[in-house]
Amino acid sequence: MVLEKDLKNVSKDFPILKQEVNGKPLVYLDNGASSQKPQVVIDAITKYYTEINANIHRGVHTLSQKATDAYEASRKKLQVHFNAKHDFEILFTKGTTDGINLVASGFTTLLSKGDEIIVSHLEHHSNIVPWQMLCERTGAVLKVIPMNNKGELLMDEYDKLLSDKTKLVAVNHVSNALGTINPIKYIIDKAHEYDAVILIDGAQATPHIKPDVQALNCDFYVCSAHKMCGPTGVGILYGKEEWLNIMPPYQGGGEMIKEVTFEETTYACLPHKFEAGTPNIAGGIVFGVAIDYMNAVGFEYIQQQEDELLAYANQELKKIQGLKLIGTAQEKVSVISFNIEGCHPYDIGTIVDKLGVAVRTGHHCTQPIMQFFDIPGTIRASFMFYNTKEDVDVLVSAVKKAKMMLL
Ligand code: ALA
Repeated sequence: MVLEKDLKNVSKDFPILKQEVNGKPLVYLDNGASSQKPQVVIDAITKYYTEINANIHRGVHTLSQKATDAYEASRKKLQVHFNAKHDFEILFTKGTTDGINLVASGFTTLLSKGDEIIVSHLEHHSNIVPWQMLCERTGAVLKVIPMNNKGELLMDEYDKLLSDKTKLVAVNHVSNALGTINPIKYIIDKAHEYDAVILIDGAQATPHIKPDVQALNCDFYVCSAHKMCGPTGVGILYGKEEWLNIMPPYQGGGEMIKEVTFEETTYACLPHKFEAGTPNIAGGIVFGVAIDYMNAVGFEYIQQQEDELLAYANQELKKIQGLKLIGTAQEKVSVISFNIEGCHPYDIGTIVDKLGVAVRTGHHCTQPIMQFFDIPGTIRASFMFYNTKEDVDVLVSAVKKAKMMLL
């Protein structure tokens, strides 16, 4: 599974990292946007299409059964990884955005005018816009948990926002732009005190942290495979059985029905009620392989390695004159956003790319965060367990060069 036995050299499992970009060895620090894939994941995609490709849940023939078994085995793996009570509480989706939209769509008939939905100032657009659209459909009102200038949510303000009108709370586990780890257990428990439903956007947490959805007691938890060493176009929505039963289906189509007549349609049981059409079969199966890989590396190692990288990168970046860290929360994953006084983030990003360093620049789909700090965007370096201190050194030297060229 993990081919490289010395975890300090685990980047060797990732063939893409061996290449040069613009004549320089690639230093990939845009993991928050999408992680790279280890050889076992790449091989599993080839193996699926070479050996068992067929549609699932539809055929009596051998290939269809093999594909169905592999798909459902992956669902079970994900159930175990996230500690869901039942495997049918794990729905395959296209990714985090799809999962959030599924829930927002499902609540259209469950909310009324004047009901309130709470999100936070730290959300990605994908955990703001679907709720705004739900508000437009229902007359519900969106409320926002404010943050301080470190990028930490203000829990006393959250307490004040909660009321009997609160029907739904949606917050991220980790901020994609700043790396803040939010106090989600507190947020979940408080929401439940008001009988509100709570959805956690785990897109940026799951590459670093192994969440236990039963211990958290959240109603919904969403994430994407591609940020967890898996393929793009697939993710999961964990939903508590009771809510998945209450919510109407998201999309109509094949495989989500029990019986169809022109007069009436009855729906299939969970999870199929929410999985209309032919899914991303290879993606679903290979998501399980990626989860196996990450567990083989081990989340204890992942957290220790990334904490070290975060501390080292903070220490070295701070030495650059005119560099300002954006987001300095006490609890953070290995994501660092920063700006250089007098330089546009886009210019820094373009120059460091020429030096082989891949970072994300811009608003990171979090315009409200940028509005809060009154900046057009940031330069964001986001690390995974396969990054090294040498990668940090290359980043720091590239940023220094970029600064010299621009000022
Ligand atoms: N949401 C992803 C990011 O933060 C794409 O970069």
